[in-house]
Amino acid sequence: MHFPSTSTLLPLLLLAASSASAVRTIIPKTSFNSQADFDAAWAYNYPWGTDHNGGARMAQSQASLSGDGVLTLTARKVSGQKDATHGGRAIKIHYLSGAVRARAHFAVARGGGYDFLGEFRAPTARGAWPAFWLTGVEGWPPEIDAAEWKGTGKVSFNTFNTSSELAWTDVAYPSPERFHAVRCEVRDAMNQRDVLVRFYLDGQLVATQGGGDFLGKPMYLIINLQMEGSSGSPGPASDTLYQVRNLEVLSYNP
Ligand SMILES: *[C@@H]1O[C@H](CO)[C@@H](O)[C@H](O)[C@H]1NC(C)=O
Repeated sequence: MHFPSTSTLLPLLLLAASSASAVRTIIPKTSFNSQADFDAAWAYNYPWGTDHNGGARMAQSQASLSGDGVLTLTARKVSGQKDATHGGRAIKIHYLSGAVRARAHFAVARGGGYDFLGEFRAPTARGAWPAFWLTGVEGWPPEIDAAEWKGTGKVSFNTFNTSSELAWTDVAYPSPERFHAVRCEVRDAMNQRDVLVRFYLDGQLVATQGGGDFLGKPMYLIINLQMEGSSGSPGPASDTLYQVRNLEVLSYNP
């Protein structure tokens, strides 16, 4: 491959500069301020329904707005629910809990990307499995876990190229009773195929991972409080709360 001359580079640089300035707000920080703000950006439960890969079934009753811009998801122990099935396997349902999904889908365009950010007060007890994550609309992968807590006291940041090829970074998560800032930057890796993902906790860059063949693939954005599953069992007997505020999505797509 030959190196492009300055005369061919210049228009490209100008193009990059003009598209980089076009930041658009896809989900504003105010989306948890009122029911109307919420309904404009979010819907309840998973995109595919109420069940997934853990011991909680999602219900709209378990997601609430407290009027101060905070979304609260509450997992409550229940009995008498029918099993969930995931990957052909039956899973006992021990909780009703909350999940919300963005109405928008997110596909990194050439030269573009997104920032997904917010402040999270996440439970770290065994059996609590809160997450803030992206997963493919048209098939899996792509998956990017902007933050996931698996009952260990740590927070995990993950990117799945396939079920066996994944990058993960586990980081200490002190003072879970406080809100912590999470920021996930997803960008075109500029090779016509991949994306680059940078994860930040409380303003510190904690991991950089690659998403193989994620470019142009639409993703759902989900915030959910799943229970048991990957975070161990039995989970808590008392109510478990997961809270989010100042959630924002910015687009850098041209
Ligand atoms: C996933 O794919 C990207 C792009 O090819 C690569 O940079 C990254 O290392 C891969 N991740 C893993 C865990 O192998």
